[in-house]
Amino acid sequence: MTADNTNPTNEEHDDTLTNRQGHPVTNNQNIRTVGNRGPATLENYDFIEKISHFDRERIPERVVHARGAGAHGYFEAYGTAGDEPVSKYTRAKLFQEKGKRTPVFVRFSSVIHGGHSPETLRDPRGFAVKFYTEDGNWDLVGNNLKIFFIRDALKFPDMIHAFKPDPVTNIQDSERFFDFCANSPESFHMVTFVYSPWGIPANYRMMQGSGVNTYKWVNSEGEAVLVKYHWEPKQGIKNLTQKEAEEIQAKNFNHATQDLYEAIERGDYPEWELLVQIMSDDDHPELDFDPLDDTKLWPEDQFPWLPVGRMVLNKNPEDYFTEVEQAAFGTGVLVDGLDFSDDKMLQGRTFSYSDTQRYRVGANYLQLPINAPKKRVATNQSGGQMQYKVDRAPGQNPHINYEPSILGGLKEAKQNGKEYTPKVEGRLVRESIDRQSNTKQAGETYRRFEEWERTELITNLVNDLSKCDPRIQEKMIALAEEADEEYGRRLKEGLANASKEGSTQKPLGNRDGDKSVELAEELGH
Ligand code: HEM
Repeated sequence: MTADNTNPTNEEHDDTLTNRQGHPVTNNQNIRTVGNRGPATLENYDFIEKISHFDRERIPERVVHARGAGAHGYFEAYGTAGDEPVSKYTRAKLFQEKGKRTPVFVRFSSVIHGGHSPETLRDPRGFAVKFYTEDGNWDLVGNNLKIFFIRDALKFPDMIHAFKPDPVTNIQDSERFFDFCANSPESFHMVTFVYSPWGIPANYRMMQGSGVNTYKWVNSEGEAVLVKYHWEPKQGIKNLTQKEAEEIQAKNFNHATQDLYEAIERGDYPEWELLVQIMSDDDHPELDFDPLDDTKLWPEDQFPWLPVGRMVLNKNPEDYFTEVEQAAFGTGVLVDGLDFSDDKMLQGRTFSYSDTQRYRVGANYLQLPINAPKKRVATNQSGGQMQYKVDRAPGQNPHINYEPSILGGLKEAKQNGKEYTPKVEGRLVRESIDRQSNTKQAGETYRRFEEWERTELITNLVNDLSKCDPRIQEKMIALAEEADEEYGRRLKEGLANASKEGSTQKPLGNRDGDKSVELAEELGH
């Protein structure tokens, strides 16, 4: 090596730096210039390649769940669902045999905040699992909490706009959050969880997971049941108070990613058990809630949790961007024996995921190793940005990229077991479901909390609600009163005291619509 670190011999070794064209790079310190003081010339191919790739290093972050951490591992089936063979309910191959292992990739995330936001913030947490099964991939895209804010997918963009930063100030603002929630009473159960310590899990290893939406299982007779999925951490569950979270955040805003990475590096592999709740596939008029409503829990005493397998995470990603950032999960990604229910949120979600991934990652996102199934893929799809191979079967006639054909193209698979063919009939309407029961389960959840959790819930709600318009406060108090007498009373008293103490400072930002319009007009917009 010469003093300025260039390699005059141009000999190539295994560790020789090259560019993406495979050319050895002999000088990675200096751009090519006229004399050593410049100017630079335009034919600096190595420099232009390097800098223009750097200019494109980021892809759009996920529109939600931007901050995350991932790990690889395996799922091991029990072969049973509680006391029954699992085949009674589903023919999905990954569940059938006791001890059968299926590789998985998991991505945990927070929801609302951006890509490098603190991991201590109050927010649901994402819990997305990709199972690389012998029948192709299955994605179980869930959260830590078992319910959700809304029950109709049409409301999702509004909900996310209200929770994300204000479009004018770019500051997240609890008044916008509570304005949406107070006027969407179905969200009250979820608000009750999120404002309690359950809204700040201590880390990713010590939190539950849930599919949240209702799915179906189909057996080999073509019979279906409704199913909900739950992940239970073997490490135990731990949540934080607001104060504990603030103390961690003052020192470390990557604590959850770090905790997961370090646990796996030291061989302390986190593990979760997968449990399901099952209901017969009908409307269940005897229940005071709709089984397809994702703002509701299914009572455990009526619908017991049945263990079906366990998952162990035992390998960290080798490269964050390649694996975690480009991972693409979606609720449409099911295998034989698993199906959708008519849950309206689930149906809306199923369109959204692959749609955003074609934009966020690219049309051929399913060819990336993290997203591709580990079994063979043979399709007639081709083209699009960044295709790098053809999904061709061995022996397939390369001229035949269509089906049907007798000239050596791909053939349809055989149906495995009886097809499930539900009958659907009804008028096309735009209507909410009948059994809304918006606050009853919120009251039950409030009463199930321990006293310190109830106190935290009230304190956290008062802190954020006291900065809101009194009309929003009144609506939230009314929802709490409807849920539980004590819940309502404590919230009302807390807000009255906060107002007396004068701690109700208005948040930053001008949301006065009239003033904003006046200002925009003055500026000529
Ligand atoms: C991520 C849409 C509800 C869990 C996403 C993404 C979109 C989206 C567009 C970004 C995906 C990507 O860029 O790869 C929606 C819509 C919903 C909805 C339209 C309602 C209609 C839910 C619910 C849950 C959930 C109810 C919980 C079960 C997740 C998770 C991720 C995610 C865990 C992150 C996946 C990952 O780690 O890459 N969602 N979502 N979403 N969503 Fe939803």
